[in-house]
Amino acid sequence: MNPRIDVAVLGLGGMGATHVKAAQESPWVRNVFGYEPDASRAAQRGRELGTVATSNLDVLLNNSDIRLIYIAAINEAHAELTEKALRAGKAVLCEKPMGLDLGQARRMLKAHEQTGRFLQIGFELHYSKLYMTAKQWIDDGLIGTPVNCHCRYYCSEFHMKDTWRSRSKGTLIGEKLSHYIDLQRWFMASPVDNVYSMHAPNTVTYFNHPDNHQINIRFANGAISTLNFVMCIGETDAGDPLLDVLDKQADDGHFLQYHIFGTHGAIETDVFRRRARRWRFSDGPKQLVSEIAETVTFAREDDQEWFHNVPGQCMRVAELVASGLPPEIPAGDSYETTKVCLAAEQSESERRIVGLSEL
Ligand SMILES: NC(=O)c1ccc[n+]([C@@H]2O[C@H](COP(=O)([O-])OP(=O)(O)OC[C@H]3O[C@@H](n4cnc5c(N)ncnc54)[C@H](O)[C@@H]3O)[C@@H](O)[C@H]2O)c1
Repeated sequence: MNPRIDVAVLGLGGMGATHVKAAQESPWVRNVFGYEPDASRAAQRGRELGTVATSNLDVLLNNSDIRLIYIAAINEAHAELTEKALRAGKAVLCEKPMGLDLGQARRMLKAHEQTGRFLQIGFELHYSKLYMTAKQWIDDGLIGTPVNCHCRYYCSEFHMKDTWRSRSKGTLIGEKLSHYIDLQRWFMASPVDNVYSMHAPNTVTYFNHPDNHQINIRFANGAISTLNFVMCIGETDAGDPLLDVLDKQADDGHFLQYHIFGTHGAIETDVFRRRARRWRFSDGPKQLVSEIAETVTFAREDDQEWFHNVPGQCMRVAELVASGLPPEIPAGDSYETTKVCLAAEQSESERRIVGLSEL
């Protein structure tokens, strides 16, 4: 094993706490530092999370023992913090979204390309076993060529009144749905040609952005995908809608499912049923025959690892950086997902199909 590295987490809110805890538990990490712009909040969060936290970013950036910076700050700060950290010679794992607009995403990508430093965006679902299973089935050719992918995600309201998420310049497409758009790109493995997206009037009237989206994507190989997101139907829960009271949510209007249809089979992933299934299609004398070929389930105690594996991602990135290995999700690939998100926003505001080549 290579020598352990020191790391710092910028932004010590809910997600920052998850990053700190994962780093503290990683065998690849020696010391974990924290940063919050306000000195008293830095001190308080440092105490609560059992880490040394500062409001002086330069102290961390000038510390040559710190090799990796995790960015879990509000979305507005992602581009600036990423650029500063990369230019200070650090490796960076930055939470999604990759900036609030294309200008910010390009700045992040450019800083990565100019410095040659490690940059990975926090698309943690690539590290979640439910989706890794589906991807493996696709890569093993078990459903033939994927041609149509649906994601439906219905959940309770989770962003609450007067928060930075509601005030943010970016919409929920980048903030939340970028994960699920990124997964569709991962599964379909073809460049995106164009996007047509719509939203209806809000049900959560105090939220400053659309709270529902229907996003249609056409891929260069002719495949298509749809993402339907609605927030309000599940019974209200003030915590993380993915992790808290999952068993209750399974039957109160929550859905988080993918259906991936291929030329020789299909896949379903279902968070609330804790299950992935695969169908095999074959040619019968009278009709196409479909049979369930494989079912995988997981236990409640493994929820996080199976569908929300931020800790696994943080630990893996520490291992990559300590071992001198490159990112597993190239920054250029996350930039493509960002473009699809922004094309969807543009499509909604201009009410037309937006080609990726326009961006
Ligand atoms: N991968 C996931 O599933 C997932 C889930 C939740 C949040 N996130 C991402 O994590 C990030 C944080 O979200 P959260 O839920 O923890 O929000 P939060 O409000 O709980 O925490 C945000 C923290 O950032 C701090 N902050 C504000 N300005 C800052 C700056 N300039 N520099 C450093 N810190 C600053 C705030 O004081 C606060 O402590 C967001 O980018 C969000 O998109 C990802």
